[in-house]
Amino acid sequence: MIHRPTDAPEWWRTAVIYQVYPRSFGDADGDGIGDLPGITERLDHLARLGVDAVWLSPFYRSPQRDAGYDVADYRDVDPIFGTLTDADRLVARAHELGLRVIVDLVPNHTSDEHVWFRQALADGPGSAARARYMFREGNGEHGEEPPNNWQSVFGGSAWTRVSDRPDAPGSAWERDGQWYLHLFDTSQPDLNWDHPEVHEEFCNILRFWLDRGVDGFRVDVAHGLVKAPGLPDWAGHVRMVEGTDVEEGLAAAEDEVIVPDASDDAQTGRSPMFDQDGVHEIYREWRAVLDEYDGDRILVAEAWVEPLERLALYVRPDEMHQAFNFNFLVTRWSPAALRESITGSYAANDAVGAPTTWVLSNHDVVRHASRLGLDETGKGPNGIGAEDPQPDAELGLRRARAASLLMLGLPGSAYVYQGEELGLPEHTTLDDSLRQDPAWWRTGHAEKGRDGCRVPLPWRSDAPGLGFSPTGRTWLPQPESWAGLAPDVQEQQEGSTLRLYRDILALRSELGLGQGGLELLEAGDDVVAVRNTASDRPAVVVVANLGTEPVTLPEGAEVLLASGPLTDGGVPSDTTVWLREQS
Ligand code: GLC
Ligand code: MG
Repeated sequence: MIHRPTDAPEWWRTAVIYQVYPRSFGDADGDGIGDLPGITERLDHLARLGVDAVWLSPFYRSPQRDAGYDVADYRDVDPIFGTLTDADRLVARAHELGLRVIVDLVPNHTSDEHVWFRQALADGPGSAARARYMFREGNGEHGEEPPNNWQSVFGGSAWTRVSDRPDAPGSAWERDGQWYLHLFDTSQPDLNWDHPEVHEEFCNILRFWLDRGVDGFRVDVAHGLVKAPGLPDWAGHVRMVEGTDVEEGLAAAEDEVIVPDASDDAQTGRSPMFDQDGVHEIYREWRAVLDEYDGDRILVAEAWVEPLERLALYVRPDEMHQAFNFNFLVTRWSPAALRESITGSYAANDAVGAPTTWVLSNHDVVRHASRLGLDETGKGPNGIGAEDPQPDAELGLRRARAASLLMLGLPGSAYVYQGEELGLPEHTTLDDSLRQDPAWWRTGHAEKGRDGCRVPLPWRSDAPGLGFSPTGRTWLPQPESWAGLAPDVQEQQEGSTLRLYRDILALRSELGLGQGGLELLEAGDDVVAVRNTASDRPAVVVVANLGTEPVTLPEGAEVLLASGPLTDGGVPSDTTVWLREQS
């Protein structure tokens, strides 16, 4: 047994949580950009799907330089998404339907249009306002070199210089002042989490949304808030999806090769900007705030941290409730690798009493229906363009359905990214001129970026813009292949991905698979086979066949669900089944 069953009553230990990406879920006002009323109108789809909660990516006031992950006002809704009243309506309607609502919290950085940052620029070096951010003097005779060699996650230096001469025209080459740190885009200055006002402000932001009735927060870049003292040079380059890459960092440093020093961090590959021990104090503070409220409100960590044991530190009993399991997301389509990820995930989380979570797609990675159709599965590239090798769509979808049926048969909590219930592929031929992700610009187009997984959802096959907006407008064009994938078509289609997801979620909940225990079964090298057990119901066996030959079902086994058609008595390649063993 690699995981014991639980009878803990908290909803989040077993919940299936659906990620809504507001700009691409549904548009009500016709401008081609999704909005809060457009989500509220479509919440029935989610209730019908059978999820327990929704997580909304940021809808706060923002210049949208990083699609809302650059927040200018944490207590207001951006006009493109609606108003605070619309947010209240959304929460009320979700609750009416029995859906909990989790909102996104972005504490590592603000937008450069946040009033704090504007004030920091205006008040100049040494001011109280600058102390809330990470301003430093530059190196070199005239401070013309950045304070250290850190790279932004989106590419390029992690520092931008400002103009501190009142009369300076402000163009980049004439800037003469201090530098500020931004682990992401220039428009996302990092906050200084050594500052008490920053702590106080975020506790108040939590309360603001808790008072409005939200059920929790997904915490953006939860591993980034605290930086190593002294901001030491570090030659690596951390990318969101891949984690740390010291070697590439060295190569990228070109003529100026900086060798990591002999500190522990350099040896373990841990960077001085991520996963510093100090972050845990912050989450203890926030947990105490949440615990003042009734109703099981939660914190979910977005932390690209390795290994799983380090990630588990974020979900100790007095910190966050859950952390996204990116280890599972980046695992190759390989039985041994998947078994290792599953076993390791339970070991790490069970040790701290936290639920293990499962996730295959989100707004930062290539959709798994496309990722799994690439020659090399695993973390995948950061975006796919028309001239790149294209995924095998049929293979990708078959594997995606098998992967989802495997994932949702595992105990714990799971995340579903909008559109995966329709089997949507990535947009892999998006015109470069339409790309908006800052990673596309900051890497000098070396990375395509994340626009391909953020395309507006299809709702009706026969409507302009596939029913995303009443005017037919969509802020990014939808791929042609999506027409046949709209929910109105899939409703009518036996075996459609939408109907598969509905069946999976209904059965998962009916059988309490989220609460189950788990055993790993020996079923050959090509197969991932597990037994989900509970004392009050017959066990459910999940068999995923990743090999090329069909796998014979155990005699007398009853098939409860299959991710694709079965052959005579067998599970074909890239197919998963849920079985009830002969009693
Ligand atoms: C997180 C978000 C991503 C965003 C980044 C910076 O990783 O998921 O979309 O770009 O943080 O806020
Ligand atoms: Mg709109």
